[in-house]
Amino acid sequence: MYSSGLFKDKIALVTGGGSGIGYSITKQLLELGASVIITSRKEEKLIKAQQELSQFGNVQYFVCDIRLPENVEALVSSIKEKYSRLDILVNNAGGQFPSAAENISPKGFSAVVNNNLNGTWNVTYYVANTFFIPQKSGNIVNIIANVFRGFPGMVHTGAARAGVDNLTKTLAVEWAKYNININAIAPGFIQSSGMDNYPPEFKAGMEDTVPAKRLGTTDEVAYLTLFLAGPMAAYITGETVYIDGGQRLWGDLFKL
Ligand SMILES: NC(=O)c1ccc[n+]([C@@H]2O[C@H](COP(=O)([O-])OP(=O)(O)OC[C@H]3O[C@@H](n4cnc5c(N)ncnc54)[C@H](OP(=O)(O)O)[C@@H]3O)[C@@H](O)[C@H]2O)c1
Repeated sequence: MYSSGLFKDKIALVTGGGSGIGYSITKQLLELGASVIITSRKEEKLIKAQQELSQFGNVQYFVCDIRLPENVEALVSSIKEKYSRLDILVNNAGGQFPSAAENISPKGFSAVVNNNLNGTWNVTYYVANTFFIPQKSGNIVNIIANVFRGFPGMVHTGAARAGVDNLTKTLAVEWAKYNININAIAPGFIQSSGMDNYPPEFKAGMEDTVPAKRLGTTDEVAYLTLFLAGPMAAYITGETVYIDGGQRLWGDLFKL
């Protein structure tokens, strides 16, 4: 898809890189020459991913819960020690559960916002201050969700992802002086491991709500991520790009 060696000598951090969308992003970055650090909470998953992905290039893993600033600080210190620099951050880790809004307790709401919004900030903060601002270069891609028309059925993650969407715009302006590009990707329904967390009744008829009449693939999200993380998109910053087969413009999953 892209010319070989496009990311040669680049160092990338992909949060949630051991599964689904993050796994595909990691694989593609490795194939194009980058060294990649993947991170998430479950070591077993990371070890398996590292074993599989090593055939494509240099991939290391680090166990880290992005909700915990001290975990993120340790991750960033380890990258500094091993590589001395970082070029690309993909904030992909996250998760949520479907529920009618009135059934989401303050604790549940807070947990999802903490993971998807605060977690993204924790990683962005430490990476920017340790690498991107002193280096005066860096590229950030935030994987959010299709919250174009609100997010009925998952109010917690809708609010959190809208927060990341706004954070993306703000940082694009504040950090342009440091030569940092930051963009977001809003996937619609993607056939990935993340879908395993949803009950069958939630997924039934999903394709029919998408004008393209199919779910997206993790590779399709990865192609877009690499475009935004690469030199082709050097003059694009503060954008959120939707990758949803047109779903935001037409279909509704939840019956009100
Ligand atoms: N699939 C879709 O249709 C879709 C649509 C819109 C948005 N998204 C978003 O795209 C991203 C990737 O989704 P996916 O479908 O590939 O699902 P996935 O396989 O469940 O990926 C999420 C990854 O994030 C990691 N993670 C979750 N919480 C974390 C935490 N606190 N600290 C560190 N790592 C954490 C998970 O690993 P551990 O459990 O090991 O921590 C997992 O590897 C997610 O943010 C998801 O919400 C997906």
